[in-house]
Amino acid sequence: MKKIVVLVSGAGSNLQSIIDACQQNRINGHVVAVFSNNANAYGLQRAKQADIPAHFINPKAYADRTSYDVALFKAIDQYAPDVVVLAGYMRILSPEFVQHYHGCLLNIHPSLLPKYPGLHTHRKAIENGDQEHGTSVHFVTEELDGGPIILQAKVPIFEGDKEEDVIKRVQSQEHNIYPLVIGWFLNQRLVMEGGTAIMDGNVLPPQGYASE
Ligand code: GAR
Repeated sequence: MKKIVVLVSGAGSNLQSIIDACQQNRINGHVVAVFSNNANAYGLQRAKQADIPAHFINPKAYADRTSYDVALFKAIDQYAPDVVVLAGYMRILSPEFVQHYHGCLLNIHPSLLPKYPGLHTHRKAIENGDQEHGTSVHFVTEELDGGPIILQAKVPIFEGDKEEDVIKRVQSQEHNIYPLVIGWFLNQRLVMEGGTAIMDGNVLPPQGYASE
C-alpha cells in the first residue's frame, strides 16, 4: 500500500476527500501522516478523527524558512511517503524543500493556472468579470503555483455570485479531481520529466489532461 503525507494549514476539506477516497479504495494508498504550520488547522482534527498521526510544527521555533523546511522534511521522511500532497498548505516552500521532493510533490490551487497565482483568486475572477473559474492540480516546482499542470476543472461564475459561492463551487470540484490525480500518481501513470507532466507516456498539454 502506497503512503501519502498531506500538509494542511486550514479546514482540510481536501484532506478529507483524500482520506475518504483511500477508505473507499479509489486511491491505492493511505494517508500515513498530516503536518501543519498552524496549530488550529481543523485539518489536524480531521486527521485525528481518522486515527492518522497529526503534527503541528511551529514556524516560530525556527530562525528562517529553510531551517523550518529542513525540520519539516526530516519529520515527513520518518514516514517514507510515496507522495507529499499540499492541501491548502498556505506557507511558501523553500527551494530546499521543493528539491527534496522533486517529482513527488503535488499541489492544488484554486484557479485555472497560469491565471491567478497567489491569493484571493475567486475574488479576482469575480472582479475581472470572468465567466468561469476553476482549480488546477500541478506538480510543485520552485516557481510559486508555476509547476506543470496535471488536471484542471472549470466552474461557471454566475451574475451576482459572491466570493463564497465561487469558493464552494470550486471546492466541490477539488474534492473530485485531487483524489483522482493522487490515484494516478500512485499507480505510476504520472511523472514529471524535464518540467512537463507525463501521463501514460504522453506529455500533457499546458492546461493538463482533458481540460474540457
Ligand atoms: C483549497 O481551495 C485549495 O485550493 C486552496 O486552499 C483551499 C484549502 O481548503 N489552496 C491554495 O490556495 C494554495 N495556493 P481546505 O483546507 O478545505 O482543503
